[in-house]
Amino acid sequence: MSAIKKEIKRVTTHVLQAMKARGEKISMLTAYDYSMATILDEAGVDILLVGDSASNVMAGHETTLPITLDQMIYHAQSVVRAVKRALVVVDLPFGSYQGNSRVALESAIRIMKESGAHAVKLEGGSEIEESIKRILSAGVPVMGHLGLTPQSIYKFGTYKVRAREQEEAQKLKEDSKLLEEIGCFAIVLEKIPAVLTKEVSKNLTIPTIGIGGGKHADGQVLVVHDMLGITKEFQPRFLRRYLELFDMIKGAAQQYIADVKSGDFPNETEQY
Ligand code: KIV
Repeated sequence: MSAIKKEIKRVTTHVLQAMKARGEKISMLTAYDYSMATILDEAGVDILLVGDSASNVMAGHETTLPITLDQMIYHAQSVVRAVKRALVVVDLPFGSYQGNSRVALESAIRIMKESGAHAVKLEGGSEIEESIKRILSAGVPVMGHLGLTPQSIYKFGTYKVRAREQEEAQKLKEDSKLLEEIGCFAIVLEKIPAVLTKEVSKNLTIPTIGIGGGKHADGQVLVVHDMLGITKEFQPRFLRRYLELFDMIKGAAQQYIADVKSGDFPNETEQY
């Protein structure tokens, strides 16, 4: 009798569209390496984002600005190798798409060709319209990102909630419509008031994915190091921690050190 192989149905941009249409929420987490991506994909997360937050949580930089295109491709390759089901989206890093649509297209093509990822994400609205259009014209799916866009941190000056004022909220609404019209398949809404997320999500047919944007987004995303409690100091209001891994890993490492020093490890059964 031959074994029946269970076929895994991959998440595509069309699957996400259908999820929004039937009111099914979308789950997204960041991933930067093979081992974590294997676990998250097996858990059934819909989208894995190779975020430029790798600059913070993997490399220890204060902002997302220093990470390079080559480094993003390295992280993306590791994640793609692990994934059987999730849609893999990769951030275009700071400096790889702003201001020059030809450079933007070259950056997106490098990511798609060299990593095998399924889509790219860019931060911004009308100011990067040409870059997004050019990438889309090459057949590369694009996820937008509005609200708090960390690559512009030196323009904003703080990581506080965005679009509380009428003018900024209006621009965000117009940008979200523009991103939908030019062909983005989804939009991340970061750190904006819940009422604005609700209005934007209602007015779009493409899904919105919130982070600090409240419950009315069509999906949610968190940085995996934050939701697992690996980053101990980062405690914004929007973050729900599912584990306290910093303390757990530290405790395990302390136990290991004690076992080595006392001669308890390895024991008779842990040697050849
Ligand atoms: O880089 C990242 O992790 C992100 C998420 C916060 C959406 O862009």
